[in-house]
Amino acid sequence: MLKLATVAAGAGALGYLLAKQQHGSTGAKRCPFGGTVSNVADSPAAGSASGSEEVIASTYFELIGNTPLVDITAVAAAGTHPGVRLYAKAEFLNPGLSTKDRIMRNIFEKAEADGRLKPGMTIVAASSGNTGAATAMLAAMKGYQAVIITNAKCSAEKCASITAYGARLIITPTGVDYMEEEYKMARENPDWFSVDQYNNAANPEAHYQSTGPEIWAQTGGKVTHFVAAGSTGGTITGVGKYLKEQNPAVQIVMSDPNGSVFYNFWKTLKATGTGVLDKPGKFLVEGVGKNNIPGAMDFGVVDDMIQVSDKDSFTMCKRLAEAEGILAGGSSGLNVAASVQLAASLTGPAVVVTTMPDLGVKYLSKVYNSKWLADNNVAPSNL
Ligand SMILES: Cc1ncc(COP(=O)(O)O)c(C=O)c1O
Repeated sequence: MLKLATVAAGAGALGYLLAKQQHGSTGAKRCPFGGTVSNVADSPAAGSASGSEEVIASTYFELIGNTPLVDITAVAAAGTHPGVRLYAKAEFLNPGLSTKDRIMRNIFEKAEADGRLKPGMTIVAASSGNTGAATAMLAAMKGYQAVIITNAKCSAEKCASITAYGARLIITPTGVDYMEEEYKMARENPDWFSVDQYNNAANPEAHYQSTGPEIWAQTGGKVTHFVAAGSTGGTITGVGKYLKEQNPAVQIVMSDPNGSVFYNFWKTLKATGTGVLDKPGKFLVEGVGKNNIPGAMDFGVVDDMIQVSDKDSFTMCKRLAEAEGILAGGSSGLNVAASVQLAASLTGPAVVVTTMPDLGVKYLSKVYNSKWLADNNVAPSNL
């Protein structure tokens, strides 16, 4: 097993783990890359460090979850009620640099516990890239083979990280549903384990058991709104369910790229009891928005929805990077842009929490590349 020993707190999940252990579990503290971390709960991953200078995570696996909540109120629009706070959960500090480490940890653990996943097996996962990277990373940690299926939209950086973990990568042609490919491969290879993230109940469960409780504890139960875009719907379903169980007044708001079918489906479902599927449109933000409704998505927890354009999402990425020093992925820009819009509409004090699902380094060739932005006619507005 890999052991990590370090004394210098730097950026990344490990730096945060150190910060947690060095400063204790309560009170505001500095996040490794800037902003304020509020009331962070004790981490099971923090283990039993006994005040020694050296902090050791006994396995790399333990660094998943317990990500900081960063105060990003500075990005709120002018005129926003002064009592509104905006916080963003830095999910890119997970070891695989995305929130998907959480779901894959739970999916692996569940499948191992009930015997569906056994030593020597191959794991197959269809993914827009982050679940693929998390699967490949966990497979490497645990000694499984991994086959990851994605499509041409997946950034070169995400593709390269999947193969860097030793997984086999298959890129499906445009128009082919990568989930169908996963099912087909699992049928053809009966001893393979199919992750099935879009329908796997262990996906929303992971967020119900970890992300939701972390947000509740980190805000001291003061969260009033949670904003997240969806792909599988695992994040919004799991976090939304948990937060509403703690306080039914918490508002769950889904951000959605223009062109995704979620918005009209939710709107018609709410108005008539039957969701209507629009013809899907094209959008460039990766990892969120869909052309169908996944089984893991529960629209029952969603109180409101906000649509965001590619350009506004990428403009917020630029703002976060250049004005806050936070290099986050396109869906983080989308989530924060929707949160800023929501915050501006509130008439009294509120604690708006959103999530930054992955790291901007995964999109240097796109979201942070002026040529790609100009070629796709989505160059950010001036800050
Ligand atoms: C970059 C990114 N953001 C957000 C999400 C949405 O998460 P969920 O699948 O929990 O709805 C994903 C999922 O693939 C993603 O890759």
